[in-house]
Amino acid sequence: MSWVKPSCWNTSLLMVVLPLFLLSPLFSFRLVRCDADHFGSAFKIMEEFSGYPVGEPDALLSLSVGTDDLLKQIDELAAFSDTPAPSVTRVIYTDKDVAARRYVKNLMKGAGLSVREDAVGNIFGRWVGSEPDLPAVATGSHMDAIPYSGKYDGVVGVLGAIEAINVLRRYGFKPKRSLEIVLFTSEEPTRFGISCLGSRLLAGSEELLKSLKSTVDAQNISFLDAARYAGYAQDQDDISSVVLKKGTYASFVELHIEQGPILEEEGTSIGIVTAIAAPASIKVDFEGGGGHAGAVLMPNRNDAGLAAAELALAVEKHVLESGSIDTVGTVGILDLHPGAINSIPSKAHLEIDTRDIDEGRRNEVIKKIHQSAFRIANNRGVKLSEFKIVNQDPPALSDESIIRAMEIASTELNLSRKLMISRAYHDSLFMARISPMGMIFIPCYKGYSHKPEEYSSMEDIANGVKVLALTLVKLSLT
Ligand SMILES: *[C@@H]1O[C@H](CO)[C@@H](O)[C@H](O)[C@H]1NC(C)=O
Ligand SMILES: *[C@@H]1O[C@H](CO)[C@@H](O)[C@H](O)[C@H]1NC(C)=O
Ligand SMILES: [Zn+2]
Repeated sequence: MSWVKPSCWNTSLLMVVLPLFLLSPLFSFRLVRCDADHFGSAFKIMEEFSGYPVGEPDALLSLSVGTDDLLKQIDELAAFSDTPAPSVTRVIYTDKDVAARRYVKNLMKGAGLSVREDAVGNIFGRWVGSEPDLPAVATGSHMDAIPYSGKYDGVVGVLGAIEAINVLRRYGFKPKRSLEIVLFTSEEPTRFGISCLGSRLLAGSEELLKSLKSTVDAQNISFLDAARYAGYAQDQDDISSVVLKKGTYASFVELHIEQGPILEEEGTSIGIVTAIAAPASIKVDFEGGGGHAGAVLMPNRNDAGLAAAELALAVEKHVLESGSIDTVGTVGILDLHPGAINSIPSKAHLEIDTRDIDEGRRNEVIKKIHQSAFRIANNRGVKLSEFKIVNQDPPALSDESIIRAMEIASTELNLSRKLMISRAYHDSLFMARISPMGMIFIPCYKGYSHKPEEYSSMEDIANGVKVLALTLVKLSLT
């Protein structure tokens, strides 16, 4: 136990002084320049500035994260895996997932949070504030892991949030708005093909509420049976009780590894997310005549495979035509039937992912892809048997005041930061539908994610936890 517990921290004064941090970058700058050991001079500056005598609020700026505990918890959680270390495989509602949930609930209780779970297994841990009727400030992330992935994706935002709460308790902070940690069910689409299942439901997706009743996994186990197996969804009708009213939270902040190389390459400690790009996914099927690869001459072919190939190139072309570096498109699945070297493909199946931070621009790309699919099918005499937009989520912008709070927190902690876009998407994308939202990124090794080599240093994680803790303080007191 290496942290220093301050002797006293007068809460009412804190409530006067901390909001001032929000108001004055100048004030913050002068404060961070003071060494933590020289409380006297810091007081003087603060008193001059605020006109109030103050206690020890800058103790928070020298806050120390329990890195040994956090490191141990990350490793322990990673052990709840269906594949051997260093890989992690933790799929929703499996035995390992249930055990991991128990582990996290115990940590939440250990942090003095009151824990509740909803009908699909979103888990909430609340620290009740001095004004419990005000909308709470929430933070959190997911902990499910796709097969053979790593131990930091999502987990940093769950265990890191619990540690942020522990830090604030150790420093004697008393929240005004309640602080709540949310562990989201199934951010990854591994089992049921639905990404951000928990947060999508919290945000009230009617479509998902309807489709869940008939959703099955690859083994034909229904979503509801799987949820029941894990101890949730005891009553089929109570899934809609998961939905949160808009305004339940005053703000939502997610701490997450970047899953990209930018912060590490630039040596920047903190990424402050201004927008989350939103994906749309499309399934396309072409059907042609097929036939013998030797016997059917070229002019007589209706090759579904070539239609798919041409469409894949059209996707690239339409994305590039947008003229923005933020528009991306990928054909990640391309299946040919019957898939024999001497048979002309009679069927081709493509799945296309396209993303942008500008919804209109992305939808324009989708429109062009659709037109190209028609044109290609026509020209090649194949049938466009399916063109299905599987999902078309709007992008989300971070809330200005949360961005500001995260920026000031970084400045006060003397951490370098940059504003950036999240090109991967997160539960925050859906939380943004019901709450002002913000995200904190930390560097990760070479941008690796979704593989065992995924890694963030303890120093970077601790920085993220500090920025999160200080941001929660600001948001709780406003
Ligand atoms: C602030 O960060 C810079 C660069 O990382 C470092 O050189 C400096 O010593 C830090 N100052 C304080 C007061 O921590
Ligand atoms: C899946 O399960 C349902 C209900 O138990 C059954 O009616 C259906 O035939 C099954 N489908 C497959 C492909 O096994
Ligand atoms: Zn994640």
